Amino acid sequence: MYIDTHCHLHDEKLKDTDTVVDEYLKSGVSVALNMACCALTSEMGSKLAEKYSSVYFGTGCHPSDINGLDQTEFDRIQKLTTHPKCVAVGEIGLDYYWQPYDKEKQIDGFIKQMELAKSVKLPISIHCRDATGDMLKILKDNKEKLEYGGVMHCFSGSVETAKELLKLGLYISFAGPLTFKNANSILEVAKMVPNDMCLTETDSPYLSPHPLRGKVNGPKNVPIILNKLAEIKGLDGMVLAQNVMNNAKTLFKKLV
Ligand code: NI
Repeated sequence: MYIDTHCHLHDEKLKDTDTVVDEYLKSGVSVALNMACCALTSEMGSKLAEKYSSVYFGTGCHPSDINGLDQTEFDRIQKLTTHPKCVAVGEIGLDYYWQPYDKEKQIDGFIKQMELAKSVKLPISIHCRDATGDMLKILKDNKEKLEYGGVMHCFSGSVETAKELLKLGLYISFAGPLTFKNANSILEVAKMVPNDMCLTETDSPYLSPHPLRGKVNGPKNVPIILNKLAEIKGLDGMVLAQNVMNNAKTLFKKLV
């Protein structure tokens, strides 16, 4: 019924995967997409997807890990794109928050992976932190590489930025910050984004929703985020959950 379109089950903090999977299935989350940060976590995602029927995965290199993206690493990431449960290239993007960072390398790595996604007909899962200007420019300049779509994961920007992303055909994914007490502009974004362009995620083990902030997050918490989104939009939770699941299946075509 519910879907977590961006989580990190490979993370140390979620290492008791049997329990994590069991818990989210019990809370009504039927699908979890494990997004990678590098070749190793892409491979870990593929193993998890082979073990659990509810897990699918993305393959890619996170901007903060971009210094490690040499040809060998890229080949390992690329190889996984043909896996039957590989639903996306991700997470990829720009991160100017964590210091030090190499802008040029991040931009090159991002564009190279957008090209990869297009060549293997997969959507992308985009990470963007403190880099909105460059991100919008790259996406617009490389619009043709978005042929198979994409999602801005854990969106935290303004209504104006969200509108630009929607114009590019990108989905907007909501995570724990939507539930935070200091959430403000994100509430306006949530109201504005059409129901058929919304996705839900946890980004677990990070970003636990209110009132669980500070605790280890898991896909089991998707219903908290979905219900908050439904409340903001004045919709029935079940109706929105079905909408979000349909959106995910439209974007991530390998989902069954
Ligand atoms: Ni993430």
